[in-house]
Amino acid sequence: MWLTNSSIGKKVIMSVTGIALILFLTFHACMNVVALFSADAYNAICAFLGANWYAVVGTAALAALVALHFVFAFILTLQNRKARGSNRYAVSTKVNAGKVEWAAKNMFVLGLIVCLGMLLHLYNFWYNMMFAEIVGVEGCISPTDGYAFIAKTFSCPVYAGLYIVWLLALWFHLSHGFWSAFQTLGVNGKIWFNRWKVIGNVWVAVVILMFIAVVVAFATGLAGCCGNCGSAC
Ligand code: HEM
Repeated sequence: MWLTNSSIGKKVIMSVTGIALILFLTFHACMNVVALFSADAYNAICAFLGANWYAVVGTAALAALVALHFVFAFILTLQNRKARGSNRYAVSTKVNAGKVEWAAKNMFVLGLIVCLGMLLHLYNFWYNMMFAEIVGVEGCISPTDGYAFIAKTFSCPVYAGLYIVWLLALWFHLSHGFWSAFQTLGVNGKIWFNRWKVIGNVWVAVVILMFIAVVVAFATGLAGCCGNCGSAC
């Protein structure tokens, strides 16, 4: 099949799944910002996205997108390394030296950091919230009290620091991924290419800064509650 056999087909799969994941992150960041204004409103969203059938279907679809994106990234990276040997970015060592972005050369490593951070994040939130609700386990924080989980997680400076590092890696990964996806999908005129690059950079910066604002607000006590479960440290 063209989509899975050819290099360009694999890139199309990566681009489409990547754009879908950016859209999910945009929704997720907007949702999180609500926590800066109202604990009740944030928890109402968490309850809506809890162990309901449509939320579980959404989670499965999201997991499929991440799996496709990761598997095809892995295959393409292996193919590129095999084809190019040690001279992986010929352009960066010859005519265009210095012009190939750092993020472009390190997409796979950045993606790996993003995946590792995601595993920690899914444990902190998805496992303690949606999964706990599905299996009916309740700790000292209710599985629908997303606000309390955020407050608990970021009251620990180690977690706050790890999340900032994770979000910075995600920032680099997405800012290259965004315009690269549009290039693969056929946006190649110089004017539109540059426009999409600017749109992508601004979009990704806004999304990541919304995530970082939440971490910083809860880590510094600008937002949060005392709760009765202490810190996540
Ligand atoms: C300040 C940063 C973040 C906070 C406070 C946060 C908070 C949360 C919370 C509370 C949930 C559980 C929602 C629920 O089950 O109702 C969740 C789920 C999730 N988060 Fe985050 N998140 C953050 C950043 C991120 C980032 C950067 C990513 C991806 C790179 C991400 C990916 C996910 C995924 C995949 C889920 C599971 C969604 C599902 O069950 O369908 N989160 N997050």
